[in-house]
Amino acid sequence: MRYIIQSYIRFFYRSTNKHGVHSPFVYKFVTKCLNDKTNYSEYKQMQEYRLNLYRDKNEITVKDFGAGSRVFKNNTRRISKIARVAGMTSKRQKLLYRITKYLNCQNILELGTSLGLGTLSMALASKGKVTTVEGCPETLKTAQNYFQHFNIQNVWTINENFTSFLSELPASEKYDLIYIDGNHSGTSTLHYFELLLNHIHNDTLIIFDDIYWSKEMTNAWKEIIKNPKVRVSIDTFQWGFVFFRNEQQKEHFTIRV
Ligand SMILES: C[S@@+](CC[C@H](N)C(=O)[O-])C[C@H]1O[C@@H](n2cnc3c(N)ncnc32)[C@H](O)[C@@H]1O
Repeated sequence: MRYIIQSYIRFFYRSTNKHGVHSPFVYKFVTKCLNDKTNYSEYKQMQEYRLNLYRDKNEITVKDFGAGSRVFKNNTRRISKIARVAGMTSKRQKLLYRITKYLNCQNILELGTSLGLGTLSMALASKGKVTTVEGCPETLKTAQNYFQHFNIQNVWTINENFTSFLSELPASEKYDLIYIDGNHSGTSTLHYFELLLNHIHNDTLIIFDDIYWSKEMTNAWKEIIKNPKVRVSIDTFQWGFVFFRNEQQKEHFTIRV
């Protein structure tokens, strides 16, 4: 926790808002997407889905695949509690919705479904397909029930660990948007990034969650943005954005969202 607070203070002093951004591509992304204040009608459905989860008193047994939980002490967990503790916040969910819509993403990959809050926002913003990967069978089953209940038909769920899923992925599979929200270990994050480089195109965006979760995660993020294939990287503290646009000069931004 101390590391996160100290990192935030450092982030705050070196970050800027839209006024400090000189790249037209990034300026447009910030002003027309990240800062877009439109109250999209889909936000209502996202809120309803979330409230249903918050009211769900059922318990499931969770298989922990990631770097572990800082909150839960055992593996039998109430769905409402998982949604509150591990689920994406409403602010982030709306942001992910806007990013998916703004970039017109059609083929999307999410690593870490949990109860499907992020999956839902991308599915509602896209006319294409969202593939979401989750290692824990009971968690994924719960998300599948919710997708069905909310009649979400463009989500493909996969119950596998991230490494085996990515290792078996055909090279022809290219994604417009990749959202990585699970297993916050620096080494694994770097490994996923390496594997994912086979599945990007010029306009792909990869979003890394929790880049300041630990020193190790921040170091992994620093390695990732050094990669020559990465042209534009944006640190927004909670999320790190990586673009591969060949037409851009290599440039890094630190922006408050
Ligand atoms: C923080 S939660 C994801 C939150 C979700 N994206 C949302 O929008 O609310 C991370 C999820 O990733 C899963 N996970 C972590 N490491 C994994 C791995 N190596 N393979 C498969 N699933 C993993 C966990 O079981 C957990 O459900």
